[in-house]
Amino acid sequence: MSLLDVRGLTTEFRTEQGWRPAVSDVSFTLDPGEILGLVGESGCGKSTAAYSVMKLLGANARIAAGEAWLGGENLLAMDDNALRKLRGDRLSMIFQDPATALDPAITVGEQVMETVREHLGLDRRAARARALELFRQVGISDPERRLSAYPHQFSGGMAQRIALAIAISCNPEMLIADEPTTALDVTIQAQILRLIKTLLVTERRSAVLLITHDLGVVAQICDRVAVMYAGRIVEVGDVRSVFADPLHPYTRALLDALPTHEVARGALATIEGRVPGLTDRPSGCSFHPRCPHARPVCATELPPRVRPSPGREVSCVLHTADG
Ligand SMILES: Nc1ncnc2c1ncn2[C@@H]1O[C@H](COP(=O)(O)OP(=O)(O)OP(=O)(O)O)[C@@H](O)[C@H]1O
Ligand SMILES: [Mg+2]
Repeated sequence: MSLLDVRGLTTEFRTEQGWRPAVSDVSFTLDPGEILGLVGESGCGKSTAAYSVMKLLGANARIAAGEAWLGGENLLAMDDNALRKLRGDRLSMIFQDPATALDPAITVGEQVMETVREHLGLDRRAARARALELFRQVGISDPERRLSAYPHQFSGGMAQRIALAIAISCNPEMLIADEPTTALDVTIQAQILRLIKTLLVTERRSAVLLITHDLGVVAQICDRVAVMYAGRIVEVGDVRSVFADPLHPYTRALLDALPTHEVARGALATIEGRVPGLTDRPSGCSFHPRCPHARPVCATELPPRVRPSPGREVSCVLHTADG
């Protein structure tokens, strides 16, 4: 059984034209010890999908449909108190800007200790020992001294290490990482990704949902990848087969926009046209106006989800029996 099983998730935002879906009928699973990359251009709904699972949405958003099962519990049906506890204990998050996770007025040591005291029930001494251990694990040198520093005294990469220390402090079953390395330079980026892999996946068998628009990052660290376009997952599969043989024209376009040597360097893909906004989503397959293979049916019918081979899924008429 999967650790996380998201089914039919639909999340809408209030717009001037009424409620409009930013995420439509999104389903995916995540197994223990697995890293799933969620990719797509800006505005495809990656963050909204992830925040929906954590129920961290603002007042202008609503989950219109779907379930998100973690073990035997549907996160989307849980009350706020239970969810808050779960978010510290079993689920963790890191974001593009580590500052969002850190309180600027409190030393980083206090912040880590507070988390482990609250969620692991440790006393002050044990919490300090745990904080030191975590700082060492995420590669912070001279941890005794660093405990009493404030967030602004750290570089972006160092602050992200602290956010990671907090995120792993309670041994979460799952981490959601939303563009955790986008703001960092390439060397630091690789270090943080390696830490996520060793500390969470290898040592704890936690699952990671890694949101990125960088296919290089996916190639480096993910096991499977889900490609999103205009609120829908258009293709899912293991990274090796998706990169070798992309089935959806959008996936192919993303990969084609990236010269092979650039995959390793982590360059950004750009393809012609742009992702439609919430109020100008085309009918049929949302990608059809940008698709080199579009047929008349693509403008009117939503493509069915097909499973051409084990573990692979694609939503495109090209892959249907008469496609
Ligand atoms: N708080 C909000 N209120 C209204 N619309 C929103 C809000 N947040 C996101 N949207 C809209 O929902 C759609 C999906 O946005 P989302 O931020 O989930 O995309 P993303 O794939 O994470 O993009 P990025 O790569 O830029 O982070 C976009 O059209 C965006 O404009
Ligand atoms: Mg985002």
